Amino acid sequence: MNDLVSMKDLTEVDIIELLDRAQNFQVYGARELPRKYTVSNLFFEPSTRTKVSFEVAERKLGIDVVPFEAGFSSSVKGETLYDTVKTLEAIGIDALVIRHPDVGYYKELIGKTKVSIINGGDGSGQHPTQSLLDLYTIREEFGGFEGLNIVIAGDIAHSRVARSNADALTKLGANVTFLCPKEWAGEFEAVHEWDEEILASDVIMLLRVQHERHNDKMSFTKESYHKQYGLTKERKKMMKENAIIMHPAPFNRGVEIDEELVECSKSRIFKQMENGVYVRMAVLELILNGRN
Ligand code: NCD
Repeated sequence: MNDLVSMKDLTEVDIIELLDRAQNFQVYGARELPRKYTVSNLFFEPSTRTKVSFEVAERKLGIDVVPFEAGFSSSVKGETLYDTVKTLEAIGIDALVIRHPDVGYYKELIGKTKVSIINGGDGSGQHPTQSLLDLYTIREEFGGFEGLNIVIAGDIAHSRVARSNADALTKLGANVTFLCPKEWAGEFEAVHEWDEEILASDVIMLLRVQHERHNDKMSFTKESYHKQYGLTKERKKMMKENAIIMHPAPFNRGVEIDEELVECSKSRIFKQMENGVYVRMAVLELILNGRN
């Protein structure tokens, strides 16, 4: 594997291999890669978890992490992403983790640069390492995916997390249902009520309203959204005994999830963040070792 840009490019076997490699890191700890690689993280959109998690994963593998601040880079002077990547290639970077607001930004890079590209999120397109850490967390909980009922609730149309997970979970045999206001379903079929879903779901994956990708003002108040589409305390009481709550974060307490449920016993939100480091080590290791 030279690059990782979309979950669509991974087969079921590829996914399981990556999850197993991540599990090895969890069980046996990190080991340095056989040679010194140089990686930089190019984030043209805000990030806490993904950026820090990649950086921790890189350091644990003994990778040289070259700092890059998008807001102080030549992109501010009008340099294109393509030219920035070609520049970093010439300087000796092996791989780039890139987050960028343009859907499919990577299409003009793949095949035109020797640098390996790892997609840290492209607009509302894909977010493969988030999907892998979600899959890892689900497998850790249930041992597999076949037949699990998974509801993904929130701003589906604008969510790269929904898109990446829909591709991957369906491939792995889970039943995925989208739940959202009618106008936020995008290209997906969706339900608009919690009633049946709350009783049937093994995993409830909540998503943040992606305000930054909305042109119009939202027609909901925080309270009305929470009441209609959020995970309220009342709904939580109706969840199956072994069902879990997930959220890629950042979460808005009191909007998509009740304030108190973020850290309740069913929540795996912080576990997801921990698992993100194992999964990212696995992706970096596979891609970088393949460059020898
Ligand atoms: C998500 C993202 O950036 O797509 N966050 C993340 O990577 N953990 C979800 C979001 O921003 O809502």
